[in-house]
Amino acid sequence: ALPMSLPRLMDKKESGEPIVMVTAYDYPSAVAAEQAGVDMVLVGDSAAMVVLGYPSTVPVSTDELIILTAAVRRGLKTPLLVGDLPFGSYEASDEQAVATAQRFVKEAGCDAVKLEGGGTSVQRAQAIINAGIPVMGHVGLTPQTATSLGGYRAQGRTAGRALQVARDALALQDAGCFSVVFEAIPSAVADELMPRMEIPVIGIGAGAATDGQVLVFHDLLGIREGTGARFVKRYASLLDEMIVGVAQYADDVRTKAYPQAEHTYSIDPGELADFRG
Ligand code: KIV
Ligand code: NA
Repeated sequence: ALPMSLPRLMDKKESGEPIVMVTAYDYPSAVAAEQAGVDMVLVGDSAAMVVLGYPSTVPVSTDELIILTAAVRRGLKTPLLVGDLPFGSYEASDEQAVATAQRFVKEAGCDAVKLEGGGTSVQRAQAIINAGIPVMGHVGLTPQTATSLGGYRAQGRTAGRALQVARDALALQDAGCFSVVFEAIPSAVADELMPRMEIPVIGIGAGAATDGQVLVFHDLLGIREGTGARFVKRYASLLDEMIVGVAQYADDVRTKAYPQAEHTYSIDPGELADFRG
């Protein structure tokens, strides 16, 4: 398949062909995304929680995400690869934002980066774009600042807050972002906004009107405890399968059902006799 490009994403938006995005965090998840034929892969800072076991996305470092992102790059040929700038890696200044974004491109092979929020993030997005790196925006529920949003909950559920989401989305579009994520906002708010969006909008918990959808790999495949957010649709229960598999192996070892002859190596009888001496 042809590698995904920004013009091809615009073509999909214009022709109404839904854009498929999924997160990935390592080589096998990248291979799964590649083989499944998705359009875009995000190495989300959700890695902090689903892969590294942190309680939120806040603690994960750029170094940690770069390692994961480089592994995804090695498993990916066709989809557009987007790296997620972690909390504390872009907010302080345009210079900091550009330097971090450049690391994701140079060290991890990203095609683009994503950052969260409006306000000063719009200026940071602009600076990164001016440095030649495509930027994806992210509005609505922005987990890096969930504390100030009142937790992991839907956003834009009052007229005033919906207006703020709209302003942020349009400002990111005006700054030159190639795409924007709408996370956890009422579908009716997304419906109102879509006619004003000229760039591909990727939704997660934003209803059916967006140009595409994104889900976290571990959410959609059930590699995670609990049921997850309202917007998660589960296509497998891999954590359950992993537990069953490891438990069966443990049982086999303890009952000596494993290993069998087929799992062992042979030696020439003469060699064995010599070895015994
Ligand atoms: O970190 C992440 O996985 C994300 C997506 C859910 C958009 O930002
Ligand atoms: Na993220």
